[in-house]
Amino acid sequence: MNDSPALATVYDEVGGMDAFEELTRRFYDDVQADEVLWPMYPQEDLEGAIWRLSRFLAQYWGGPPIYSAERGHPRLRMRHMPFHVNPDARRRWLTHMTAAVESMDFPPIVRAQMLEYFDRAATAMVNTFEPTPEAK
Ligand code: HEM
Repeated sequence: MNDSPALATVYDEVGGMDAFEELTRRFYDDVQADEVLWPMYPQEDLEGAIWRLSRFLAQYWGGPPIYSAERGHPRLRMRHMPFHVNPDARRRWLTHMTAAVESMDFPPIVRAQMLEYFDRAATAMVNTFEPTPEAK
């Protein structure tokens, strides 16, 4: 918590780690139903994936640097290189994250800030324009 409203972070404003964890769980609920995205994710380690994304987002928005303590420098573009992130994957990811953000009870200004950030960050993650390979 923070006594000075002038220094309040988004992390504090939305209610700390619980809010980031809930946001991430809602996002992954939709990802699990996505036939293009879900095969890319570690099926046997969904809880681990939830931990990584929620801790990263909490850290990005002013929370404790738990992600970096555990995973090192984020280097997100590099970490996404093994995955086939084309514009279709980007659109799907952003659709699920937008729905998750909009389902949360965040102040409108925070909601707008997050949606803008995710739109930009998702564009930065695109690493191919090849169509999604057929599932084998
Ligand atoms: C554009 C579409 C995107 C796709 C298809 C995608 C896909 C993936 C996949 C398959 C993983 C591996 C899951 C895991 O083991 O943790 C992952 C990890 C991760 N993604 Fe994305 N992602 C996208 C965009 C983003 C964006 C925009 C962000 C941040 C704002 C992000 C943040 C992360 C983080 C923090 C991890 C965990 C990295 C680690 O510590 O290993 N991703 N992503």
